[in-house]
Amino acid sequence: MQVFTVSRCWRPFGQQHWRVLAILLPALLLSGGCTRSQPAVYVISAKIDELPAKQRAPAVDVLKRYFGTPESPRLMAPSVASGGTLLIEKADPAHLKLGGRIYRRRCASCHGVTGDGNGPAAEYLNPPPRNYLPGKFKFMSTPRGSKPRRLDLIRTIRFGAKGTSMPSFRWLPDDEMEAVVDYVILLSRRGELEIQLAMEAELELDEEDDFDLEVVGDIVNDIADSWAEAKHQVVLPVVRRPASSEETVMLGRKAFLTKGCAKCHGADGRGRPENVGKDDWGHLAFAADITMGTLHGGRRPLDIYRRIYAGINGTPMPGFSEALKDEPETIWHLVDYVRAVAAGQEFDPADIERYRPETEPAETEPAETEPAETEPAADATQ
Ligand code: HEC
Ligand code: HEC
Repeated sequence: MQVFTVSRCWRPFGQQHWRVLAILLPALLLSGGCTRSQPAVYVISAKIDELPAKQRAPAVDVLKRYFGTPESPRLMAPSVASGGTLLIEKADPAHLKLGGRIYRRRCASCHGVTGDGNGPAAEYLNPPPRNYLPGKFKFMSTPRGSKPRRLDLIRTIRFGAKGTSMPSFRWLPDDEMEAVVDYVILLSRRGELEIQLAMEAELELDEEDDFDLEVVGDIVNDIADSWAEAKHQVVLPVVRRPASSEETVMLGRKAFLTKGCAKCHGADGRGRPENVGKDDWGHLAFAADITMGTLHGGRRPLDIYRRIYAGINGTPMPGFSEALKDEPETIWHLVDYVRAVAAGQEFDPADIERYRPETEPAETEPAETEPAETEPAADATQ
């Protein structure tokens, strides 16, 4: 049985990060989260815990039947044909088990054993570690509202999210990286099922009703499909990137000031002290200070392009694919400008007067950004 001790569960950093570790470790010990000698268990969410007895136990059982336990994770698919028995999905249980082990050792201190973002270190961190349960991720190559591709998650894990406490796990061997990313997806799928079971019980069931297992199977399938579909939904630039120059940077600056970016990020790009609403995880959202040079989602031109084109999923940062559809090169100009600001380039403040916002700042379109094109072959753009 895996025993949860400090040395086994808190090893998220490579050696070069020992300073950060030295700062965080005392806080972690005080919080006591890793010092208990207990087997890891998934936390049952309050919404499931509060269900009538007739539904609570079956819900817990469903979660366990499809996804197993932290010590013994599995991915099962519903099978109508075989009368309710479940079939093993492709992922090899030993691979998932390895993923679970690495996850608890290197990730759970922040993201929580259940993936709810409530690890013992979480309360000290801003932005908070991602809660995977709602099935939403920020740094994706896919349109807003869809799932990320596996490769997107791998990129975040490999390079970290600059400017946040999400470390880089560049040194993780390939097999461990593959295993831990599949385990994160398992946690997210489990979490989404849990949320949807609670919703199903609340909206469809009376106190005395039990879950309809066929409906549960449909929910499981829909969640699995949404992950599978992401592969074919890559956002590719509509036009080729024009060669970057002083001129494209200035065109980007003009667009930044006139198309509504400055409304949230401020004319100087430093963000504003007041929040711009809440994100989908329930936290106050602040527009990024672009001058800091720490782009959480990566600083390649294509990364920034996707943040602007599709927006940042789960946050108030809107996509501009609709607003700029008649001038697709403008997105690339904005990319050049963001990169210049992030690199510390200074600009003439008189531009702010010169480029007044268009009467109504560009209409923002959170929900509906279509992929520019689909990408059948895997990862040509990476
Ligand atoms: C020291 C705390 C910490 C540790 C350890 C940590 N993370 Fe994170 N992680 C974060 C924070 C904070 C964020 C949110 C960044 C943001 O919102 O910009 C995050 C975000 C993420 C995301 C979301 C990316 C997206 O597109 O939304 C994934 C996936 C992730 N982490 C995976 C992992 C994995 C896997 C591990 C272990 C191998 C790990 N993290 C270890 C703090 C941590
Ligand atoms: C409604 C407010 C709002 C508007 C309008 C807006 N943003 Fe943002 N932006 C945000 C928020 C909030 C974040 C932080 C998202 C997060 O990581 O949680 C953000 C983050 C960013 C980032 C950082 C991405 C990263 O990887 O960390 C860039 C770059 C950016 N915005 C550029 C733009 C540009 C360019 C425009 C105009 C075309 C724009 N934004 C318009 C709210 C806004």
